[in-house]
Amino acid sequence: MNLLAIESSCDECSAAVLADGALKSVVISSQLIHNEYGGVVPELASRAHMEVIVPVVEESLRKAAVSKEEIDSVAVTYGPGLAGSLIVGISFAKAFASARGIPIVGVNHMEGHLYSAFLEDEKPDFPFIALIVSGGHTMLIHVKEPYSHELLGQTRDDAAGEAFDKVAKLLGLGYPGGPVIDKLASEGDPKAFKFPRAFMSKNPESGIADSFEFSFSGIKTSVLYLLRELKYSQGNGDEKLVRDICASFQAAVIDVLVAKTISAARQFDVRSIAVAGGVAANRGLRESLRSAAGEIGAKAFFPRPLYCTDNAAMIGIAAHFKYGKFGMVSDLTLKPTPNLALSF
Ligand code: KG4
Ligand code: ZN
Repeated sequence: MNLLAIESSCDECSAAVLADGALKSVVISSQLIHNEYGGVVPELASRAHMEVIVPVVEESLRKAAVSKEEIDSVAVTYGPGLAGSLIVGISFAKAFASARGIPIVGVNHMEGHLYSAFLEDEKPDFPFIALIVSGGHTMLIHVKEPYSHELLGQTRDDAAGEAFDKVAKLLGLGYPGGPVIDKLASEGDPKAFKFPRAFMSKNPESGIADSFEFSFSGIKTSVLYLLRELKYSQGNGDEKLVRDICASFQAAVIDVLVAKTISAARQFDVRSIAVAGGVAANRGLRESLRSAAGEIGAKAFFPRPLYCTDNAAMIGIAAHFKYGKFGMVSDLTLKPTPNLALSF
């Protein structure tokens, strides 16, 4: 069974081919145009998707050495995301599916991230705890079995990746902020400044977190106040200060993510933790969570960085569970659903 998967929910246009759940190819076209604006401009994103979707799909087929006629189903992200961006992928997938007379499988973008660890050879066991940390979401989920999800908590304000992007902007480091903060943090002192960690109270006996909710806007505000106090001006050459702020900020975010994820693994007595979303590419997070998981006899699974950020391979693997295992399909009434919630 050959499946073509398409992802166009934000600013990456991506296509992948999977054969019986095994990845054959993935092509990702990133839109660099947004970097000049410090964030994704929806209208520019949908126009760029229009221009590249056909060549991106063609390249994914060519790399997989699979012809259009050999594709048996098409999976596509239908939300959450930007309406104009989603429309491009969905329209393409509908046209492809109806021309070929094959099923179309609508996939929730977050469920793509959720199952992305299954793209690697070493896979988590069910049940597992999933931590999804991206530019738009921070979610802790208990995955009891395929497509049985319990949302334990999410962010009340900024997403983890959004906090990285906003702090990078304050420091004048450009967009997206995650990769550059990740690099500078590795050269700075994480104890140089103390930034707040929200909702960190825990049960005094078990040590398990009282809440699985997150809040990151306080950290960002605290960085802003520090910069004002230090009369920081962007590009003034104080590289040590920037490295120390990055390291201290990143340490605060990681502390919270690790504490809550480990608490969830303990509370539900699971041995596998799967991390996904753009922030899962963060080297500090990978190291801290791997070692904290080891301490409780659990294992943390991180997809390679290419599969952490938005890509169609993860949409394909989620569709493999959804359609391959459960036969769940959509039809040509599939609509872009910008605020789509996780399914349970
Ligand atoms: O999952 P993703 O590609 O797109 C969304 O669905 O949001 O995540 C993008 C986010 C951005 O906020 C970016 O700054 C962050 O992931 N990111 C990182 C790293 N690489 C990307 N954050 C921390 N460390 C990184 N190495
Ligand atoms: Zn994403």
